Amino acid sequence: MRIAIIGADGQLGSDLVPALKEEDVFPLFWPKFDITQAETAGDVLRSLRPDVVINTAAFHRVDECEDRAEQAFAVNAFAVRDLARTCRGLNAVLVHFSTDFVFDGEKRTPYFEEDRPGPLSVYAASKLTGEHFVRAYSERAFIIRTCGLYGLAGCKEKGRNFIETMLFLASSGRPALQVVDDQIITPTPTVELAARVAALIRTEAYGLYHMTGEGECSWFEFARAIFELSGGDPSIVVPVNSAAFGAKARRPAYSVLEKARMKTIGLPPFSPWKSGLAAYLEKKLPSDRKPVGFPVSE
Ligand SMILES: NC(=O)c1ccc[n+]([C@@H]2O[C@H](COP(=O)([O-])OP(=O)(O)OC[C@H]3O[C@@H](n4cnc5c(N)ncnc54)[C@H](OP(=O)(O)O)[C@@H]3O)[C@@H](O)[C@H]2O)c1
Repeated sequence: MRIAIIGADGQLGSDLVPALKEEDVFPLFWPKFDITQAETAGDVLRSLRPDVVINTAAFHRVDECEDRAEQAFAVNAFAVRDLARTCRGLNAVLVHFSTDFVFDGEKRTPYFEEDRPGPLSVYAASKLTGEHFVRAYSERAFIIRTCGLYGLAGCKEKGRNFIETMLFLASSGRPALQVVDDQIITPTPTVELAARVAALIRTEAYGLYHMTGEGECSWFEFARAIFELSGGDPSIVVPVNSAAFGAKARRPAYSVLEKARMKTIGLPPFSPWKSGLAAYLEKKLPSDRKPVGFPVSE
């Protein structure tokens, strides 16, 4: 299979490249390959003649999107429309990533793929529009909603992923780290997501999928687990509610995803979120600060 990976040096892209090493992979990098430049991007893809195009690119600095809606829609929606059209012209499968933020968080039990979205922010609305464009223009497409990604490459758009941010802030001498305890999510290791994407594209079971780690936690619980497992001091993490934290963009209070379709087609479940975190820390931390007290499953 010939596979073009857009954003190949990003957090998820960096794990997709090795996960697909048995295929002919064409990594594409911003700014040389920019999905908002529809004509140039289309020309590059037409010259590569991929069987599959995987788009990891996004403008996902969620608070910044509130002030830069045009840019958010340019990258997360209109460029995705153009990619979907190009893929249709090439008869290529499109794999596109979306977000748990498409939901409003009112439900309080895990969201199924069929549940009605209710975006609360510019970012969420732009990503949901991107999903609609993929559905409108590409019959052979996988849309994958995921949540709380972390990978060894670190998040390119945001500078650092959440784990790196917590460890960095603690090491820079902050006495306390305020972390919201009223947003419930599921952290997801990109290495596990990449492995499932590699399996999914070998099927023809196109459509919408939820793919995240197993279980749920608040960002506060996630932060405490980072310090517990890395031998740090969990008490540095202090709970705060979203109103007091005061982020610019609204976020769902509950955005845990039920991975129903993934289970139906027999893809292996993700690790429980704490095991995934332990496995990540095992690779990330220097050998004298290895995770303590938790089994590593994958
Ligand atoms: N991170 C999360 O917690 C999270 C949660 C839910 C869903 N998602 C979704 O998952 C996907 C992957 O996230 P990630 O964490 O791997 O992101 P990431 O590390 O920021 O990687 C995105 C990649 O896309 C590139 N890119 C940005 N704008 C581009 C453009 N206009 N044209 C071409 N490439 C462009 C980036 O390059 P530069 O950095 O050099 O610009 C980077 O290499 C995104 O669709 C995101 O919305 C992420």
